[in-house]
Amino acid sequence: MNRHRMALTAATVSAAVAGGIALVATAMASDAATSLGAAAATSGRTFGVAVAAGNLTDQQYVGLLDTQFTGITPENDMKWEVTEPAPGDFDFAAADAIVAHAKDQNQEVRGHTLVWHSQLPGYVAALTDPAELQAAVDRHIAEVAGHYRGQVAYWDVVNEAFVDDGSRRDSVFQQVLGDGYIESAFRAARAADPDAKLCYNDFNTEGVNAHSDAVLAMVEDFVDRGVPIDCVGFQAHLITGALPPDIQANLARFAALGVEVQITELDIRMQLPADEAKLAQQAADYRSVVAACLAVEKCSSITVWQVSDRESWVPGVFAGQGAALLFDEQRAEKPALAATVAALGG
Ligand code: G3I
Repeated sequence: MNRHRMALTAATVSAAVAGGIALVATAMASDAATSLGAAAATSGRTFGVAVAAGNLTDQQYVGLLDTQFTGITPENDMKWEVTEPAPGDFDFAAADAIVAHAKDQNQEVRGHTLVWHSQLPGYVAALTDPAELQAAVDRHIAEVAGHYRGQVAYWDVVNEAFVDDGSRRDSVFQQVLGDGYIESAFRAARAADPDAKLCYNDFNTEGVNAHSDAVLAMVEDFVDRGVPIDCVGFQAHLITGALPPDIQANLARFAALGVEVQITELDIRMQLPADEAKLAQQAADYRSVVAACLAVEKCSSITVWQVSDRESWVPGVFAGQGAALLFDEQRAEKPALAATVAALGG
């Protein structure tokens, strides 16, 4: 028996009330999946989570990680500033610990991320000569994706290269290398790890808008010209009660190009303090995101951006907001957890 299917023989989904509609408590069948990972597996999908290497010494955390999740994304430990802090000076210790854990637990690894304007060492950001920057990018991709060759199922090859009006982000890569840097990165990643699926990943692209239109046009062009791209990640850092209404339609139009689509960094924040009504709305919102993914055959995974509200990046960036994840600060289950398992078919 799959370890994700063990434990509870019957469980009750807590009632959640959103907009006056009660989510009816449901008794699960004796063999129903009761974890996120097991419930997602019933439709062949992965349910992942972002993890920092430092979290792996926390037994309570690891208990949830290994019973609930079937995928792992390193939250920060595969980023350029961590893996190549000085030119040619590679450090894989933290990311290796995460990959080893994932291997031990049979969890799918999403590599995050090879080319991104943020958490980028100063020596890269300072390069102004195109040949030098291209050489730095090529070496970084070859070494990092090469190091994890065969161990990373999906790579976020390029992250956040567009902004909300649909234009290119004004990063060092864009300024010095021009439009072709994205295509070049995908080709380099394919050469470094031919078996990894290669994704473009971005935020504010969950609904149909100018930002996602621009990404869609790029993906269509890549597919037409045979540039290696296999998947598109939609980060989904969302706000309780304010989901884009057309997530499913947006995922579907990307999937129609033949690529996989994935929800890669899901969290749904709220104004603090949390209360029963906000938590019920949040549960309904998680349910909506899961439903959008399940309705699109090529939507292959959902990843939440950390295990619990204790680890979430949100309060540090959005003052007064938080409570965005499926487990609370004490790592107790929130209403959104049961709603998500149920929406996945558990
Ligand atoms: O490593 C230093 C540590 O040495 C120092 O003591 C500490 C003091 O604040 O800072 C540590 O660095 C922090 C780093 O996370 C590692 O914990 C940075 O300050 C902090 O800014 C950084 O935040 C990360 C953020 O990306 C940076 O942009 C978040 O943890 C991480 O969740 C977040 O993840 C991004 C995705 O990669 C891309 N999409 C958006 C998402 C949320 O911003």
